Amino acid sequence: MDRDDGVFELLKEYNQQHIIKLLEKLEGKEKEELVEQISKVDFHQIMELYENTKKDIEIKENKIEEIHYLDKAKLNKAEMDIFNELGEKVIVSGHYAVITMAGGQGTRLGHTGPKGTFKLDVYGKGKYLFEILAENLKEANKKYNTIIPWYIMTSRENNDETQEFLEKNNYFGYDKNSVMLFEQGELPLVNLEGKMLIGKDMKIKEASDGNGGVFTSLRKTGMLADMKERGVKWIFIGGVDNAILKMADTTLLGMAIDKNVEIASKSVVKANPHEKVGVFCKMNGHPKVIEYSELPKSMAEEVDYNGELKYGESHIMCNLFTIEAIEKISKEPLIYHSAVKKNSYIDENGIEIIPDMPNSYKFEAFIFDSFELFDDIAILRGKREDDFAPVKNKDGVDSPKTAKELYEKYWERQC
Ligand code: UTP
Repeated sequence: MDRDDGVFELLKEYNQQHIIKLLEKLEGKEKEELVEQISKVDFHQIMELYENTKKDIEIKENKIEEIHYLDKAKLNKAEMDIFNELGEKVIVSGHYAVITMAGGQGTRLGHTGPKGTFKLDVYGKGKYLFEILAENLKEANKKYNTIIPWYIMTSRENNDETQEFLEKNNYFGYDKNSVMLFEQGELPLVNLEGKMLIGKDMKIKEASDGNGGVFTSLRKTGMLADMKERGVKWIFIGGVDNAILKMADTTLLGMAIDKNVEIASKSVVKANPHEKVGVFCKMNGHPKVIEYSELPKSMAEEVDYNGELKYGESHIMCNLFTIEAIEKISKEPLIYHSAVKKNSYIDENGIEIIPDMPNSYKFEAFIFDSFELFDDIAILRGKREDDFAPVKNKDGVDSPKTAKELYEKYWERQC
């Protein structure tokens, strides 16, 4: 059996006859490249993930408990001083690094280009999301007399554009040698019938494998080794799309050190029981975040004896890890979740179809699924108005309009 026969067999076995048809039409380099790509795809894994989309998520059999947290607003001065001092020491001595996850597609925002290149309309002139993050880190550098290494996770799709944008804007004044870009992994997109999408380049269309891909990517791209060389001990990992994200919060860092844990996270109280955010809990004794789509209504509404939501600590993509924790996670496979998203594709006649409805599954690992690998996590409850101004949707909740308001109000209070 030659290579092509083997590929045809494989595609038949996994019900991907449309790719056989495409292969029959292609010649030369295009065909070679597609065959090469097919040989690298784990069809068994993708079809298993597709089959999983038809199953209901069952969390009832597990032992779920509420999680312990500390409320920043309720810490006394002595506690604050202890935490801040511990955290400050780590940053000042150069043992701290920051990762910005910027490999997402930002489909809900609908901005053409990487999300970090989106300009938030603040103070008339506007600021790019990358600019806002750079300013935040530069301020920390000034305060702690250091240069925090800044790692930016991109995707194959947006890496070059991100690099060019940062170059063009002179890294917004950040020390260029301390900004490291690295690409995350990808997985094929499949349509609602389990067929892999074909892209304009006549290849199977792939998309980044979720923010949980950060751990293996750090190892595979050599960034973990780079961190070790620089003497990094604690790593903050945040998203690109929170306009008031605090990336060098000494209280959070000091609290993690004081509690002798390997992972820590900032939460804010859920705006209402049905807000579309993941919430912290303990599952079978381990820290866990349950996605809103997987949280039963009764649990979402359950209150404790103070009348507070029992599962009300929202995960806001504001996480801290020791380097050992990252190393450990990078060697463990995280589960994949599926999301239905709009993705353009080439149909059997070679015509590009741009769907107006979600038409495909994207498989993503989530950063918070790594928490289960640990016995404990330190959670610091922050305040929505001080910590969380997400830019997710084009309009309405968590949109540029709400983020602008939160950003401007936050900075007004700091004056
Ligand atoms: P979201 O899950 O909100 O996804 O990402 P998104 O791509 O920004 O937006 P939608 O869902 O397509 O509208 C949360 C954070 O994780 C990053 C994003 O860039 C954002 O900072 N992320 C997400 C990645 O780095 N890689 C991914 O594969 C997915």
